[in-house]
Amino acid sequence: MIVSILGGTGEQGPGMALRWAKAGIQVIIGSRQQSKAAQVADELNEELGEALIQGMANPEAAAAAEVVALTVPFSAHKSTIESVKAHLKDKVFIDVCVPLDPENPRKMLMPPAGSATEEAQALLGDDVRVVAAFQNVAAHELRHLDHGIECDVLVCGNDREARQTVIGLVKQMGLHPVDAGLAYNARVVESLTALLIGLNIRNKVKGSGIHVTGL
Ligand SMILES: NC(=O)c1ccc[n+]([C@@H]2O[C@H](COP(=O)([O-])OP(=O)(O)OC[C@H]3O[C@@H](n4cnc5c(N)ncnc54)[C@H](OP(=O)(O)O)[C@@H]3O)[C@@H](O)[C@H]2O)c1
Repeated sequence: MIVSILGGTGEQGPGMALRWAKAGIQVIIGSRQQSKAAQVADELNEELGEALIQGMANPEAAAAAEVVALTVPFSAHKSTIESVKAHLKDKVFIDVCVPLDPENPRKMLMPPAGSATEEAQALLGDDVRVVAAFQNVAAHELRHLDHGIECDVLVCGNDREARQTVIGLVKQMGLHPVDAGLAYNARVVESLTALLIGLNIRNKVKGSGIHVTGL
């Protein structure tokens, strides 16, 4: 399988890329600038000791993959989706973005669709299967490969088969997925991120997470 991470040059994307590459998945880092994507891919490959990750401009990265993940600030959510929409038909699209209030990341500023995930699904239409995942896992937790992650990955989206694809990808990273049902649950999943950021600040920690019990 080939997985692309659009905006994978920032905080959240590299840890996802490293973990998938290490599991034998072909990974492409996407960026607005091909040269930046290539540079980040080179740095990550150096860490892996093998050339497992490629760098491409976002549209090429979207076109080349079967599964496309999006890790950009929410302010760039709509414009990035629109810039790659033509390349996403029949693909699984993993939305990692959280509509945090830029003035106060302990608060959400949800879009009219209800959540980033629902906005992505509305923008992309029924030909693209949007799945929310990884919103509650901190970037630095993902980035250190030897670090065991206790935080569950809540996975939601309207297509059951697409959720199963993403659940498989989460497991391959060594993380624990939870099938969180339909896309409207992304309102809760995305909001948990603001709650966790508040918990981090109040408790002077960096990586609070959530773990569902009783399943
Ligand atoms: N960081 C975390 O711990 C974390 C955890 C869970 C969820 N998230 C969510 O994941 C998403 C990405 O977070 P992040 O911390 O990785 O963000 P980030 O480092 O600030 O940005 C990621 C990448 O987005 C691209 N980007 C920035 N501004 C853009 C614009 N105006 N238009 C298009 N692309 C732009 C940049 O890539 P190029 O310059 O290469 O194009 C940048 O490297 C956010 O929605 C965040 O809420 C983050």
